[in-house]
Amino acid sequence: MEQRRFQESDIEKILEFKKKSVQVSFPDNNFNPEKYKESVLKNFEREPEGMHVLEENGKVIGFLWMSTTRTILGKCGLVHQIYIDDEFRGKGLAKKLMDCAEEYFREKNIKRIKLTVTLENVSAIKLYEKIGYQKKRVVMEKNI
Ligand SMILES: CC(C)(COP(=O)(O)OP(=O)(O)OC[C@H]1O[C@@H](n2cnc3c(N)ncnc32)[C@H](O)[C@@H]1OP(=O)(O)O)[C@@H](O)C(=O)NCCC(=O)NCCS
Repeated sequence: MEQRRFQESDIEKILEFKKKSVQVSFPDNNFNPEKYKESVLKNFEREPEGMHVLEENGKVIGFLWMSTTRTILGKCGLVHQIYIDDEFRGKGLAKKLMDCAEEYFREKNIKRIKLTVTLENVSAIKLYEKIGYQKKRVVMEKNI
């Protein structure tokens, strides 16, 4: 297993991961693949060192997307996306990537990491809680 920086040629694989995630977390929403690719590549230009993939035998099987933002409360780390391919789950790989996120933000002297997860995504919530993330606020939505 190798962890390396994301490169532009990984984009189709990352898009495939995102499509699968959206089916689970936002089954009723329209997903715009072009917009997604655009935002990944834009972030890649701005903070390329924050995007990593896991590779097994030359095949991308995991993805971690981090970025740094400045808010009125100071600098903050964001974990935008973490994904492990189905057949590689349950082996501690996501935990390893999240450890890497913590190290990444610590090196930037960032004291707070934020992420968003849908309530239905029980495995992701379990992962985050296991490594010390706490529910801090509620995002409310209404379909109109
Ligand atoms: C969530 C996800 C990243 C977890 O990846 P993973 O590599 O299987 O997770 P790990 O093996 O590192 O698990 C670490 C801990 O998370 C928790 N966890 C992970 N998957 C779990 C599951 N299906 N059920 C219960 N707990 C789970 C456990 O506490 C686990 O520790 P343990 O094995 O010692 O009990 C993976 O399921 C995934 O890619 N899902 C689709 C994408 C996604 O939802 N990403 C998050 C978006 S916010």
